Amino acid sequence: MTDARRRRPDTMIVEGGRKPEWTTGIVNPPVWRASTMLFDSVAEMEASNPPRHGRLQYGRNGTPTQWALAEALTGIEPGAAGTRLFPSGSAAVAIALMAVLSPGDEILMVDSAYAPTRIFCDTVLKPMGVAVTYYDPMIGRGIETLIGDRTKAIFLESPGSLSFEIQDVPGICEIAKARGLVTLIDNTWATPVFFQALSAGVDISILAATKYIVGHADAMIGTVTANARWWPRIERTSQVFGQHVGPDDAYLATRGLRTLGVRLRQHQQSALKVAQWLQAQPQVSRILHPAFADCPGHEHWVRDFKGASGLFAFELKGGDADARDALIDGLEHFGIGYSWGGFESLATPADAERIRTASRWQAEGPRVRLHIGLEDVDDLIEDLARGLARYGASA
Ligand SMILES: Cc1ncc(COP(=O)(O)O)c(C=O)c1O
Repeated sequence: MTDARRRRPDTMIVEGGRKPEWTTGIVNPPVWRASTMLFDSVAEMEASNPPRHGRLQYGRNGTPTQWALAEALTGIEPGAAGTRLFPSGSAAVAIALMAVLSPGDEILMVDSAYAPTRIFCDTVLKPMGVAVTYYDPMIGRGIETLIGDRTKAIFLESPGSLSFEIQDVPGICEIAKARGLVTLIDNTWATPVFFQALSAGVDISILAATKYIVGHADAMIGTVTANARWWPRIERTSQVFGQHVGPDDAYLATRGLRTLGVRLRQHQQSALKVAQWLQAQPQVSRILHPAFADCPGHEHWVRDFKGASGLFAFELKGGDADARDALIDGLEHFGIGYSWGGFESLATPADAERIRTASRWQAEGPRVRLHIGLEDVDDLIEDLARGLARYGASA
């Protein structure tokens, strides 16, 4: 680091958004609840337009609780001009897409995208007159062959949160820039701690902050962080769509954010230990983890990422979906439920074949997706050992 005054990521995570006028002496910016804010005169009220980040005006335009979170997230994404908050990750994806696309445009959408992102494309964008073309996550610079006169945007998700391919993000973004296209990424798996999307050339980075930023499975929130070129469009579109996050959820996300670095490093360490152990088990045929050499796009992970989070999958030998489901049902320390990124471990089926249209993703056996939480990793391994033994006996 050449500038000694430039704070490193863990310091920014701890200090971001803690302006004295927002914290008023409290360590973490507290919960400011408001819809109406009062002015001294009509003239002062009228002068508060247009609403501005950091100036109290009306509840929907935020209070220090939301501004502190947005500012802290902008601070950990080099190249960012600002961050908007949304009531969920899916809302963040939807509004970011609405901000960049108009009827008549085409978007190139990665085939490994989170299923509700696809559903938004197919059921909202297509009827609006936006063409949606799905592409193979491993296409890399070959994306150029898909770009036509109407193409406006490329959406990436890396790694895919069911299938774990790592995309050539800088390569795709270089082509996009040369052709005047806007790029968006769902960076939920890595967060800016492990992958700085804007530095890699992306224009707009989206997080389902519900996962690692909140980190405690007790609040829903989404974020969109954009560079200077796209920030005004993101800000305006989220305002006109009335997107707002209540102060209690924003507070929980800021509290979660303060420990993001240390949590992610523990998720990484424990997940790698579990994955390496699983790889040696006779019932397991394959590990889908970006840090493993045979994961598609592993070389991009080595080149571009600073680490791996706690979400990965493994493939079982033999057996069928029922035997796999019984394995999951019998686990003691793994919850069964949607989402991931909290302190607790989760296990779910991971079948992606049925939602692919542009690329083949064929499994040899049933798959399990694990989110490795912050429990003692040896308890998790012993639990999985008992599960695999039951699976082996039944398969
Ligand atoms: C990769 C990814 N993106 C976006 C979302 C949507 O986030 P939310 O559940 O907050 O709407 C999820 C949720 O599981 C996800 O896994």
